[in-house]
Amino acid sequence: MPRTKKPAKKKRSPAHLLPRARAVRGVGGARAKTLAIDVGGSHVKASVLDARGRMLHDRVRVDTPKRLAPRKLVSLIGELVTALPRFDRVSVGFPGVVRNGVVRTAPNLGTDRFHGFNLARALERRLGKPVRVENDADVQGLAVVKGKGVEMVITLGTGFGSSIFVDGHLGPHLELAHHAFRKDKTYEDELGEAARERDGNESWQKHVLEAIESLRNLTNFDHLYVGGGNARLLDAKLPRDVSIVSNTAGIIGGVRLWA
Ligand code: BGC
Repeated sequence: MPRTKKPAKKKRSPAHLLPRARAVRGVGGARAKTLAIDVGGSHVKASVLDARGRMLHDRVRVDTPKRLAPRKLVSLIGELVTALPRFDRVSVGFPGVVRNGVVRTAPNLGTDRFHGFNLARALERRLGKPVRVENDADVQGLAVVKGKGVEMVITLGTGFGSSIFVDGHLGPHLELAHHAFRKDKTYEDELGEAARERDGNESWQKHVLEAIESLRNLTNFDHLYVGGGNARLLDAKLPRDVSIVSNTAGIIGGVRLWA
């Protein structure tokens, strides 16, 4: 009997990669390279991505200085990118509220110093490329959601980030971090890095699980993703509709800001 050749298995890309047809064009065309920056309370991280969201270089990072001034952030990014390949456009995830590239709040960097700072324009001048700046949890979410139903993303790091998507569309940015969670404490008071250090991992995890149930009541999410630098510290059993995502999503989502 003639041996029939098994049809070749279709190669699947890792889930976070954009399908070829959806590669984000925008400025720079189909081969556009995006410099993606994740500004955090502890580190500023960056890499360059191709149009499908593949990192073309290992992430580079520097510690976020204490009492960071907006101009210092711009020069720090300018220095950081000298180690990276060339790029056509820039995406920034920023830990606070941003409107049209202008910072409104920066709870863990200093709203007093950052409020009203046009970060997008300052970076365009420094880097000579078009720049988009959005909330860090929104950017993170863009990398991980599957596009079905109500998907919620929370990030556990210095601060507490959140974003919500309906059928893949980003919803309005809610600053849940600073809303009441339990007793007279906000989500960030109980789930941020300061709380983890103060209360210890065990009690912090208990509060994370409580917060997930509280957010379930609030949004009726179909799936919730947990990202951010501290997500890897969760070893408790999570509900089936909750999953941990890699912290690199904070960078990878950058390419989708140009979708
Ligand atoms: C900010 C959010 C941010 C989160 C994570 C919070 O303090 O209010 O906007 O997404 O920290 O960085």
